[in-house]
Amino acid sequence: NKKIIIAIDGFSSTGKSTVAKQLAAALRYIYVDSGAMYRAVTFYALENDLIGVDFFYKDQLIKHLERIRISFKFNAELGFAEVYLNGQNIENEIRTLRVSNFVSKIAEISEVRKKLVEQQQEMGKEKGIVMDGRDIGTVVFPEAELKIFMTASAETRAKRRLEELQNKGQEVNYQEVLKNIEERDFIDTNRDDSPLAQAEDAVLFDNSNLSREEQFNLLLAICKKAI
Ligand code: C5P
Repeated sequence: NKKIIIAIDGFSSTGKSTVAKQLAAALRYIYVDSGAMYRAVTFYALENDLIGVDFFYKDQLIKHLERIRISFKFNAELGFAEVYLNGQNIENEIRTLRVSNFVSKIAEISEVRKKLVEQQQEMGKEKGIVMDGRDIGTVVFPEAELKIFMTASAETRAKRRLEELQNKGQEVNYQEVLKNIEERDFIDTNRDDSPLAQAEDAVLFDNSNLSREEQFNLLLAICKKAI
């Protein structure tokens, strides 16, 4: 079997990471959550008071970039790789609404993107990888053998995200989750550097009306055909 690169892009909370993880496990491929890397930089900026509700020390953050080391370590119990910032496990810290509320502002910065894209390309050198994000099929791996663009209605996505956050014990309501999703969609689609877009050769996949299992089975068949 030849090893390929599978690029999965799409809007926030379309369930990309869940299915990407399942596909990688089924294919024995590596899974990389590129959004976790943007979230890690955001967490760093928040921890170091470089961004907040009414301030953003963008130039300072750019200067700090060389101090930010992001890595992934496979957790056998969880069955996927967790993200580390300078050696510290921050997998839970990056999944809060606080980080979600600032991440798209961080992801607009070209210097941030350049650094993370280089690392992502390095991770894909041996192929046999499933990576999800916003610009994987367009910028990170324009030559990927299989590109999938995931979409679902904003309401469906907000409902799913709300459930996920509530299951983790976070106190959030539907309106604020929906607002965050719509704001991120807007910024991600309209930014100058690497905006979220469907690659010309990507398969469009709308999962609004699919169960997780149906979605997995359909996508696995598409992957197997491409391999
Ligand atoms: O995938 P996730 O929702 O965790 O990504 C968080 C944010 O990181 C996105 O809203 C987007 O602003 C940014 N991102 C990006 N490019 C990627 C992955 C994520 O700009 N490849």
